[in-house]
Amino acid sequence: MQQGLFITLEGIDGVGKTTQALLLKGELERQGYSVLHTFEPGGTKLGSKIRSLLLNPEHEELHSMTEVLLYAADRAQHVAEKVLPALKDGKMVICERFIDSSIAYQGYGLGFEIEAIKTINHWAAGGLWPDLTVYLDGDPAQFLAKTKGDRIEQRTLDYYNRVRRGFLEIAQAEPDRVKVVSAEGTREAVSQRVLQALEGRCG
Ligand code: TMP
Repeated sequence: MQQGLFITLEGIDGVGKTTQALLLKGELERQGYSVLHTFEPGGTKLGSKIRSLLLNPEHEELHSMTEVLLYAADRAQHVAEKVLPALKDGKMVICERFIDSSIAYQGYGLGFEIEAIKTINHWAAGGLWPDLTVYLDGDPAQFLAKTKGDRIEQRTLDYYNRVRRGFLEIAQAEPDRVKVVSAEGTREAVSQRVLQALEGRCG
């Protein structure tokens, strides 16, 4: 039985997910919660190898279907090895990216059938689903400039605009779970918005 709360942070590259995850972790710990901060892809030792397979720009031959399955494989390992044990321990888990990223990047971005992406990933994650998701929203034209250009980040602005639309449609379809927070402004201002979005649900 899952006991802790599973919170995910989503958003396009460069919007500041790690900064916000760490600020949120600090705040929840100040309130007395025991928190695990983790991320996908690469939140486990094996996952870090999958991450480098996925993101190394030299892997030009990596097939898009392989990409879908590698993200799902990383997720299967991560959920089983790290996320579920922490939740069973009663911890709050703050995870940067989860199934919504696969829906947005591989579904909306690459054009894979959304239902297929959901089915593969529900299976890979053993049915685990976030209790709460904060989607940090920002214009790709502005935020991508802050990225380093890995295999995914080298994709076009059109691709990233589709990914953003995907996240916004997910949020619209599930307003109780997914809160949209603007990623614009200082990290403190964004952090305040994140806390407000979670108010009443935790902390
Ligand atoms: P990161 O930069 O947030 O660590 O994520 C690595 C990249 O992987 C980022 O460009 C988003 C991408 N990604 C997907 O395309 N699908 C997924 O399911 C996940 C988890 C990440």
